Amino acid sequence: MAVGIYFATTTGKTEDIAERLHGMLGGAESPKDLADVSDVAELSSLDGIICGIPTWNTGADSERSGTAWDSMLEDIGGLSLSGKKVAIFGLGDSSTYTENFCDAMEELHSYFVKAGATMVGYVSKDSYTFEESKSVVGDSFCGLPLDEDSESDMTDERLEKWSQQLQQEIPGL
Ligand SMILES: Cc1cc2nc3c(=O)[nH]c(=O)nc-3n(C[C@H](O)[C@H](O)[C@H](O)COP(=O)(O)O)c2cc1C
Repeated sequence: MAVGIYFATTTGKTEDIAERLHGMLGGAESPKDLADVSDVAELSSLDGIICGIPTWNTGADSERSGTAWDSMLEDIGGLSLSGKKVAIFGLGDSSTYTENFCDAMEELHSYFVKAGATMVGYVSKDSYTFEESKSVVGDSFCGLPLDEDSESDMTDERLEKWSQQLQQEIPGL
């Protein structure tokens, strides 16, 4: 089973988390910067995909990340990912951007759903303080929100818990 980690970043925080996650997940391949990926069709060769996405385009309905993910969304939606497990983590700031906390996760989530992927890695919103987030789907976050700006002291615990969850949900980890 092959599991890939893909991230995009503007100031390096999402890359740092991707590296930390890789260290915790024995079975995943080394993280790849999406900016170096010319064709997202390579995702189809994997059994599991873990994606890291920051939110920069505050309040936007589309292209919420402001990174390389934005221009790949349509292509991702056109893939055939039935039977693949996909998990998303997002970087944001729940204090300064409390009405748009980690909004970009949900946009990416919606395109992977369109591609037929099985979405995993959902997280309860209980331990977070924020006003609004487009990434709350049903009663949970559609991935793992992380806040290195205002709550970095909680990141270790959140990552540890999520990596254990993924090891249950994605075969091969
Ligand atoms: C101009 C600007 C806009 C931002 N907009 C949002 C936002 O809407 N929602 C959010 O949760 N975080 C927002 N952030 C916080 C970033 O997402 C956060 O700093 C993140 O860790 C950056 O990740 P990166 O270093 O991988 O690019 C914004 C930050 C800046 C400077």
